[in-house]
Amino acid sequence: MAKLETSLIHEGEHFNTTKSVVTPIFQTSTYLADDIDSFAHAAAATKSPEFYHRHGNPNSSQAAALIAKLEKKEDALVLATGMAAISTAILAVVKSGDHIIAQNAHYAASLTFMRDFLLQYGIEVTQVDQTDNQAFEAAIQSNTKLIFVETPSNPNLDITDLEYIGKLGKEHGILTMIDNTFASPINQVPADFGIDIIVHSATKYLGGHSDLTAGAVCGSAAYIEKVWRRSLLLGASLSPFDSWLLLRGLKTLALRVRQINENALALAQWLEKQPTIKKVAYVGLSDHPQHALAKKQMKGFTGMLAIEVNGKDDAEQFQRAQTILNRLKFFHNAVSLGGVESLITHPASMWGAHQAEKKGNQLSFSKGLLRISVGIEHIDDLISDFEEALA
Ligand SMILES: Cc1ncc(COP(=O)(O)O)c(C=O)c1O
Repeated sequence: MAKLETSLIHEGEHFNTTKSVVTPIFQTSTYLADDIDSFAHAAAATKSPEFYHRHGNPNSSQAAALIAKLEKKEDALVLATGMAAISTAILAVVKSGDHIIAQNAHYAASLTFMRDFLLQYGIEVTQVDQTDNQAFEAAIQSNTKLIFVETPSNPNLDITDLEYIGKLGKEHGILTMIDNTFASPINQVPADFGIDIIVHSATKYLGGHSDLTAGAVCGSAAYIEKVWRRSLLLGASLSPFDSWLLLRGLKTLALRVRQINENALALAQWLEKQPTIKKVAYVGLSDHPQHALAKKQMKGFTGMLAIEVNGKDDAEQFQRAQTILNRLKFFHNAVSLGGVESLITHPASMWGAHQAEKKGNQLSFSKGLLRISVGIEHIDDLISDFEEALA
């Protein structure tokens, strides 16, 4: 069987039916049928890559085949955004009257989807502390159909014990699903721990160049067929050009993620020594409270880290965080993550107001918290940029 780096270049090549070495962009909404029989066949086929764009497309089929391989799953579907992948993946599992167990910490829109949108359709959600294995088990009800985890989670970078969750799901006949966006399949393969469904915001590490939005759902062939049937109705198919960009980005996934892991660890170790920094949250640091668990289930520790700046109160911390943001040259203040360029955001500004409105929400961000997505620039430049910003 081909190694990962080889799969990244060659998996799914059979969807390229031309002589072009690189799959061309199939920029078309519809496809010719040779005769009425082949038209009927393509119309009835699951995920036909050459019938009508919402059903499939050679570029998106090739990207999906590669992502399924990386995640060690039978099949995958790519969609227009990570949220399209998450919402369609969940709607392929639950119906009115069902129950989901999720974490306190998830990407904000995933939480809103579960707590606001699904609730309106009679689907209940219980949120638990992801660092407490027993809390997941205690939340199980007779109508629980799905356990949804995210690890490392956005933005606090807490870790969920995947082996425990995989076993728990199997013991109780409950499907398990993970948002594997932060780790990427280079650093974490949840299928190795028995997780059934893997979703991604492919906008991040998979695409890797901050030039597209995309999402992916991976699972058994039977499950992906269900997701595809939902996607035909919800309609968030990925465009041919974005599928093509995603495939181009994926070719260098292993190289990019390894460099990013290396840069992030070096930066985290340097930041930890700075007196102006109160706390560095990076699962690769040996003093991170969940480092041993991270080491057990991850091959690398990602480019995501969070720092909290010192300050005597909220106002001073906010002021200092703002000064650092404004002074940094190479870390751009922009939402999103996982690209070749380093980005930095202030979570309290991004989600704080939204969080405050939510009654009973247990998440809270310090005003001095900064979330960093480390890129592939030279580490010396990244450190000296921080050196100047902290001075
Ligand atoms: C962990 C995680 N999941 C899902 C999403 C949603 O992805 P998209 O913006 O591609 O819809 C994001 C976006 O930031 C994310 O960070």
